[in-house]
Amino acid sequence: MAEFTAAVQLIFTIIIGMYFFMRLRNESGNEKAAVQDGKREAERINRMRHISLTEPLTEAARPTEMSGIIGQDNGVRALKAALCGKNPQHVLIYGPPGVGKTAAARLALEEAKKSPSTPFAKNAKFIEADATIMRFDERSIADPLIGSVHDPIYQGAGAFGDAGIPQPKEGAVSKAHGGVLFIDEIGELPPVQLNRLLKVLEDRKVYFESAYYSENNKKIPTYIHDIFQNGLPADFRMIGATTKSPNDIPEAIRSRCVEVFFNELNRSDIIKILENARVMIGLALADGVIEYIADYARNGRDSVKILQTLSNTVSLDGRYIAELKDAEWVIKTGHYTKNDAKIIDISFVKTKNN
Ligand SMILES: Nc1ncnc2c1ncn2[C@@H]1O[C@H](COP(=O)(O)OP(=O)(O)OP(=O)(O)O)[C@@H](O)[C@H]1O
Ligand SMILES: [Mg+2]
Repeated sequence: MAEFTAAVQLIFTIIIGMYFFMRLRNESGNEKAAVQDGKREAERINRMRHISLTEPLTEAARPTEMSGIIGQDNGVRALKAALCGKNPQHVLIYGPPGVGKTAAARLALEEAKKSPSTPFAKNAKFIEADATIMRFDERSIADPLIGSVHDPIYQGAGAFGDAGIPQPKEGAVSKAHGGVLFIDEIGELPPVQLNRLLKVLEDRKVYFESAYYSENNKKIPTYIHDIFQNGLPADFRMIGATTKSPNDIPEAIRSRCVEVFFNELNRSDIIKILENARVMIGLALADGVIEYIADYARNGRDSVKILQTLSNTVSLDGRYIAELKDAEWVIKTGHYTKNDAKIIDISFVKTKNN
């Protein structure tokens, strides 16, 4: 009997031993696989970093100085007055598409830094946020504009998650602290986020809340206690740009901003933009090409886009000079309509509706 019990015990011991042995082997196999996967992925990302295309011509033609913004003398002057003095203010830039709103906003902070009385430091940051891709997230798990708290329940495994520590993540408003936050297409910002933004403009800091936060939790690092108790700094000047009309923008935001208006560009502005862009992208044009394009380009963006296609077409043919026939081909294949024709069209529609 004793021998039988010993034999059964031995068999069980062997089975349990094998079980743990297999498990250990599996785990170390998984770890090895994870390390190998990680290495492969790191190598792939590294290879991606080594691939780069040439700078798009539209980037090359982007104005690099305020003086390169054509046909917006009043708008640019108002923008400078609002932002470049010793008391910079929040700004809203209104205007039709493609007339230089984004281009001017991107140059505004550097322009302000040139002024001796500016409060912006030399290293003050310009942060861009695009309102068209900001979605309101009810649980505030991720809010790239205002910031959010990563609660342990969402963090899962990891030092902070395991220790039950809520982790504040700064948003664009805090990244822009001391500098300029540019919100492109601000008219598209969801109303709830607009209200949160207004609160930040008022407080100049962001307050975070979390059910996982406790003042008495000793595991929480001091800097996180500081953020929860005193808020995260977010003192910046905002520039918002929109194609909407002032009536479509909430009064609450309008009343806190200086309103600046960019106008439609006229033919001679378009010709100047084409001439500057031609030099910047290094394209030789036959006589009359610029004037011909100006008949079709509705705004600055169109002008640069047409030049870019023209430049690519000519270089594909191994030529250096764009002829009038090349421009005619680009306009025809791009289905551009003549600017005069559009004016006639609009009056026609108006007459019809009346
Ligand atoms: N007034 C201008 N002076 C010089 N270049 C201009 C001007 N307007 C437009 N451009 C050219 O067109 C490009 C696009 O313009 P920009 O992005 O500033 O337009 P926008 O007014 O912001 O339009 P949207 O409302 O569609 O965003 C610029 O990078 C620049 O190359
Ligand atoms: Mg823009």
